[in-house]
Amino acid sequence: MAKTHILVIDQGTTSTRSIVFDGEARRVGIAQAEFRQHYPAPGWVEHDPDDIWRDVLATARAALADSGVAAHDLAAIGITNQRETAVVWDRATGVPIHRAIVWQDRRGAGECERLRADGAEPLIRARTGLLIDPYFSATKIAWLLDHVAGARARAERGELAFGTIDSFLLWRLTGGAVHATDITNAARTMLFDIHRQQWDDDLCRLLRVPAAILPQVHDNAHVYGTTLPDLLGAAVPVAGIAGDQQAALFGQACFAPGMAKSTYGTGCFMLLNTGATAVASHHRLLTTPAYRLGGETVYALEGSIFVAGAAVKWLRDGLGVITHASQTDDLATRVPDNHGVYMVPAFAGLGAPHWDPHARGAIYGLTLGAGAAHLARAALEAVAFQTMDLIGAMAADGGGRPATLRVDGGMAANDWLCAFLADMIDTPVERPLDLETTARGAAFHAGLATGVWSGLDQLSRLWSRERRFTPAMNAATRAPLAAGWHDAVRRTLSAHV
Ligand code: G3P
Repeated sequence: MAKTHILVIDQGTTSTRSIVFDGEARRVGIAQAEFRQHYPAPGWVEHDPDDIWRDVLATARAALADSGVAAHDLAAIGITNQRETAVVWDRATGVPIHRAIVWQDRRGAGECERLRADGAEPLIRARTGLLIDPYFSATKIAWLLDHVAGARARAERGELAFGTIDSFLLWRLTGGAVHATDITNAARTMLFDIHRQQWDDDLCRLLRVPAAILPQVHDNAHVYGTTLPDLLGAAVPVAGIAGDQQAALFGQACFAPGMAKSTYGTGCFMLLNTGATAVASHHRLLTTPAYRLGGETVYALEGSIFVAGAAVKWLRDGLGVITHASQTDDLATRVPDNHGVYMVPAFAGLGAPHWDPHARGAIYGLTLGAGAAHLARAALEAVAFQTMDLIGAMAADGGGRPATLRVDGGMAANDWLCAFLADMIDTPVERPLDLETTARGAAFHAGLATGVWSGLDQLSRLWSRERRFTPAMNAATRAPLAAGWHDAVRRTLSAHV
């Protein structure tokens, strides 16, 4: 009988999950592990790649055990990952030369200002679809090569390899046989020409990254290599890779131009499918490949917000006003309104459409009547306000307004948030039955590459809606809320923008 089960490794910013899907894209096994975050200086965030590797193996084995499916019965493995996070390792030993520098890390801000002052923005924007920001991998790679003794010379001699997390995992899974990545991850480095679809020599020179350390770039649905048999108990093809946000768009079956999804994880990332056209943004959004299948690229406009669930995590771990993230739902409904309290969650600077790495989080409008419930509500409202700004920017860019917004990620389980979001964007919000859409997207790619599924029509039929939230707020109520938010953002922006 043909094999139809797929194991997906979903390596996120704060946790690693492994999920087994069956041939109907139903989840049949899951395991998850949170791992340690390192904050060595203000605005710096690092991960230990060996922690990640340990959790990938442990969760993959546990998910298989949970599903009762043996590794030799898997059709394929799919990988999806936190994007931009940079790892550089030794090709001979597979040992990283330093901890990974995480996407949220702002240490490249000075380098980015220099690049902007030198007038590099138009070139970078035209070729990569990105803005100059320390969010992307390039300045992180340059920092590693400049600060680890001997690294730059070793990189130039071809002794070191760079990868986003997918690439590092692929290398380890294949025992160092394959150094590759997919188009969506490559596109987040600030070194990849998204039109010609290759590494760009001019950008490598400008950003001081030797081309010798870069991985090969493939379609999302592609047999990248085969795992070492000892790792999981059998050699399994790794047949799908996609950055987590593009994977979520794919898992939400947003295959037609005009379809959009927003994922509420650590951050919030909204992607709008623009079809075969790479729409250039005039409102500080990103142009990014959504997926490439059989050499055909579909593009998206992306709005990247750095903090969504991270603000709730901060309420829990930093401030201690809640003990569990799900309490925010109840707290938000306990108060009749926001009491004039606004939180601008610029904990890692502000992303789209402001791109201000120097901005820092702020709470406005506190009075003696404000309490924990208002803070919780402000954290949730901020997520909806930011999505509203992204939808506005996408419409202004000519991407149109999506007829509905498909949501996923942990925070999408929050009913209050989904209802408030629908109100603020004045657009219906659709929540799928399976909120693990990121992992689903990677499963879809791996399943397409190995014949588990025949094509996009079949994948569309596997998507189903759990609930639709219809807007119920009138414009007279919405306008002052939006104005209060925009006033708070204006006060938070640094003098640098
Ligand atoms: O660009 C960063 C993004 O890929 C991280 O996603 O789900 O870990 O917040 P997540």
